[in-house]
Amino acid sequence: MNAKIAVLPGDYIGPEVTAAAVEVLDCVAHRYGHTFHFEYAPAGCTAIEEKGDPMPESTLALCRAADAVLLGAVGGPVSGSKWDELPGHLRPEAGLLRIRAELGLFANLRPARLYPQLREACPLHEQVVGDGIDMIVVRELVGGLYFGPRGRKQTSGGEAAYDTMIYSQSEVERIARVGFETARGRRGILTSVDKANVLESSRLWRAVVERVAREYPDVTLNHLYVDNAAMQMALNPRQFDVIVTGNLFGDILSDIAGAIIGSIGMLPSASLSEGTFGLYEPVHGSAPDIAGKDAANPLATILSAAMMLRHSLGLPEEALAVEGAVEAVLRDGGRTGDIARPGEAVWGTRRMTDAVIARIGK
Ligand code: IPM
Ligand code: MG
Repeated sequence: MNAKIAVLPGDYIGPEVTAAAVEVLDCVAHRYGHTFHFEYAPAGCTAIEEKGDPMPESTLALCRAADAVLLGAVGGPVSGSKWDELPGHLRPEAGLLRIRAELGLFANLRPARLYPQLREACPLHEQVVGDGIDMIVVRELVGGLYFGPRGRKQTSGGEAAYDTMIYSQSEVERIARVGFETARGRRGILTSVDKANVLESSRLWRAVVERVAREYPDVTLNHLYVDNAAMQMALNPRQFDVIVTGNLFGDILSDIAGAIIGSIGMLPSASLSEGTFGLYEPVHGSAPDIAGKDAANPLATILSAAMMLRHSLGLPEEALAVEGAVEAVLRDGGRTGDIARPGEAVWGTRRMTDAVIARIGK
């Protein structure tokens, strides 16, 4: 097949991990007789430097004309960078939110699986892990607290700032359906996470999810409050198959998922709109501290590319080949710094990528 892939390397380790995934996709194209065209555009700090905008219109246009988007990571250091002083809507992260909204990428799938080879990298006790962790967080990505009305105002207590969590029935319905469909294709258990004991938006969320559930009698639905869900992920992660939740809760829970599978450097994601179009990015950030040192784990981005092959390009066999290659490399002892045990040899980004490519074969 012929596919056009927009590549947004972004900032710091972003270009290193996207380069790795592009090499893997090139290898897949060669091995299976496809043609992938890669076209590059700036995003995040890089785009602010080049175009004065974290998500320029030209970058969005390139993405709209593509079959899928591969994104590295955007953002600068956590504090003390020149981008901190920019107004909120021009911060690098605002670019990411903009592309999600502009392209209608409402469903964010974040599969978290503990590879048996990485058992030692998992911080949880053996009895807790049992025969493994394998869940997907389905996060609503273009609504909720991230996109509600916000602002500043003067109050008797001085300046105040506010953000608003709003969810409409139709927004909840469409993400709930993705949750149910995903669960249907797996072990058939869906956990909806909210804060319905406190938040009105969560009470609507829960009512809508329950209504949609009637269409999916084959899926077992349960509800958890987000605080309890966070605790349950650490205490008993095996109870989870698919988690469906709102934007903010999904952001937080997916980092916990990264921690319990050994490293957020192993966590891929797909952000999907209606239809096959999608944006694929690792869940981890731009990691300025290790940028340019050949130290980043490229596997989350490579696994994101596998998700692209499956969801957007309709190439499930090729997706399995990439995922199988990653597993084989882990079995062969491939470890970047984030997943290495003390004393284990640490591989660089380059070596890890070469090993995956060698496993896929030409
Ligand atoms: C993520 C990230 C982003 C988010 C940031 C970089 C805006 O943390 O994709 O999880 O909060 O959605
Ligand atoms: Mg996050």
